[in-house]
Amino acid sequence: MLRTRFCVANWKMNFNCTDTKSFLESWNNKELNNKEVKTIFCPSFTELNTGVEILQYSDSEIGAQNVFYESSGAYTGEVSCSMLKNIGCQWVIIGHSERRSIFSETDEMVRNKLDQLISERMNPIVCIGETKTQRENGKTQEILSQQLSIAFENQEDVNLKNTIIAYEPVWAIGTGITATVEMVSDAHKSIRNIFNNNGFNGSNISILYGGSVTDGNATELSELTDVDGFLVGGASLDVDKFYAIYNQL
Ligand code: 13P
Repeated sequence: MLRTRFCVANWKMNFNCTDTKSFLESWNNKELNNKEVKTIFCPSFTELNTGVEILQYSDSEIGAQNVFYESSGAYTGEVSCSMLKNIGCQWVIIGHSERRSIFSETDEMVRNKLDQLISERMNPIVCIGETKTQRENGKTQEILSQQLSIAFENQEDVNLKNTIIAYEPVWAIGTGITATVEMVSDAHKSIRNIFNNNGFNGSNISILYGGSVTDGNATELSELTDVDGFLVGGASLDVDKFYAIYNQL
């Protein structure tokens, strides 16, 4: 099966409405000739609406950077799936390492978010990855396996049609240190195996790499068989750099 390839921008806590408007208007002027690759922009909650409006005639789509796992109620400061769907946002990043480390999100919370997204027929982008210490202690495989098996424990293969995995080694995020092609290749293969060993068809799942992806290293990473695209942080804030990354996929 031919897996869908993705180029996803995680803008994190950057860009207000004015910045979002000016970025996406210049994005709309670019030729998106790489038809095999879907592009998704993930701004902060306050910029989602603006993004959806500007991209209404584009092949590019908008995603959120987080969501809560309950449908409504007394959860001050949280945003539900139906709120996102209502404004035309179908994609959501969950389990990002910054949410895990700064906001204490656990694997069980990621599972609850995944369950909620899938039951609401939304499209999750599930982030996983090991820390530097975990890698140095030879625990990478174990950590990936733990994160995936807890997150996907309530799921079945048929539900994962529009689910993306993003492998983001924590030590490579925002550091300028990219994982080597061998590390990325090994990790992506292990992720497919973990899915296969848990009753899923790993070869159908798009697995993106994230962690200091730039227009300078995208080509060699995108040539790896098991890399189906990128989740880009810093370099996605520059429209020309992000476009150059998209063109290397
Ligand atoms: P950088 O591309 O800035 O390393 O960030 C990666 C990331 O965290 C994307 O989600």
